[in-house]
Amino acid sequence: MDKTLLVTGGAGYIGSHTLLALIAAGYRPVVLDNFSNSVPEVLRRVEQLSGAQVEFVEGDIRDAGLLDRLFQQKAASGNPVQCVVHFAALKAVGESVANPLAYYDNNVGGTTTLLQAMDRAQVRHFVFSSSATVYGEPVALPYTEQHRIAPTNPYGWTKAMVEQVLRDWAATGEQRRAVALRYFNPIGAHASGRLGEAPQGIPNNLFPFITQVAVGKRERLMVFGDDYETADGTGVRDYLHVEDLADGHVRAVEYAGRTEAPFAAFNLGTGKGTSVLQLVRAFEQASGVAIACTVLARRPGDIASAWADPALAYRELGWKAERSIEQMCADGWRWQSQNPDGYSN
Ligand code: NAD
Ligand code: WQD
Repeated sequence: MDKTLLVTGGAGYIGSHTLLALIAAGYRPVVLDNFSNSVPEVLRRVEQLSGAQVEFVEGDIRDAGLLDRLFQQKAASGNPVQCVVHFAALKAVGESVANPLAYYDNNVGGTTTLLQAMDRAQVRHFVFSSSATVYGEPVALPYTEQHRIAPTNPYGWTKAMVEQVLRDWAATGEQRRAVALRYFNPIGAHASGRLGEAPQGIPNNLFPFITQVAVGKRERLMVFGDDYETADGTGVRDYLHVEDLADGHVRAVEYAGRTEAPFAAFNLGTGKGTSVLQLVRAFEQASGVAIACTVLARRPGDIASAWADPALAYRELGWKAERSIEQMCADGWRWQSQNPDGYSN
């Protein structure tokens, strides 16, 4: 059976790592990316690492005509798209508060345009990059997939809204299948050191900020609060290796091809919580580099603790995170130390 996939946002951090896993599993991904938060060099490195040519189209998921042409060309060449793996989105929480319409237009509007083009091309399987941020403040931990959906920022609302769009789209029959993957905190990099996270500007997230301090691009880490109800007072999160996350997408594509359920959502996390200071220490161990820290006030909107119950993904997808915090730190450090300026090296 042909295994052609459309991977939107495939030049991004998680998408690029997932391309390697999909190619290794025998899939033929076609990438659509507008390079609003990535560069073409990423795809060249994916080709070098995989030994496979990666077909890609530079464009926007909101361009219906481009989508129609892409689906038609693949069908005409005898390699119709079997499933769409949808990474393309804006993802900065703070930016979404400042500019919500850009997030609703790109993330929600872009996804509905994509789904409409899929319907015209009779492409029926969809794997969606959702986020644990849909849960909001925890009623109880660990988060299960049944936890209430209560986002606390426009970015999180775009993910919750797209999940609802997918439930309704898949429910209309015609063998449609939608799988939402609720990522917790992906960190680290491909073990080769050739792919990794390359945030534009000042990193919003903890791990890339740590690696930039280690490589000398930032002077010190600002720790946002040490007065939370946690073991050491700093925020606790469920960090998972980006390569484990990539593997989860291969399982989700396979699941979409065999399930009778129109819609399903799965937590992708390790099921373990790690505090800011624990992650800093693990990174110092892995890198041999001391990370200077200054404790500041809490960051508005942050929650104290969040970690996943990943049992459903194991039961239904046969997936569980395999890599340790130490491996995440070692791989993240190899990437950053070999690429101090990201992909512009
Ligand atoms: P990223 O910004 O590195 O990758 C997103 C890619 O999509 C980029 O290459 C960007 O150029 C592209 N893109 C954005 N809008 C587009 C559009 N309209 N048309 C075409 N391409 C477009 O982000 P990432 O960290 O790889 O995240 C991938 C997905 O996972 C996103 O949907 C994000 O919301 C979700 N997610 C990320 C995290 C995380 O911590 N990184 C956590 C949970 C969920
Ligand atoms: C982790 C911990 C901070 C930076 C976000 C998004 C979420 C998802 C993943 C897209 C917290 C602390 C952070 C720093 C710090 N992205 N921290 N100093 O907030 O759990 O999740 O990224 O889907 O939607 O909300 O991740 O890495 O920003 O923060 O002390 O410079 O590190 O307070 O406790 P977060 P994060």
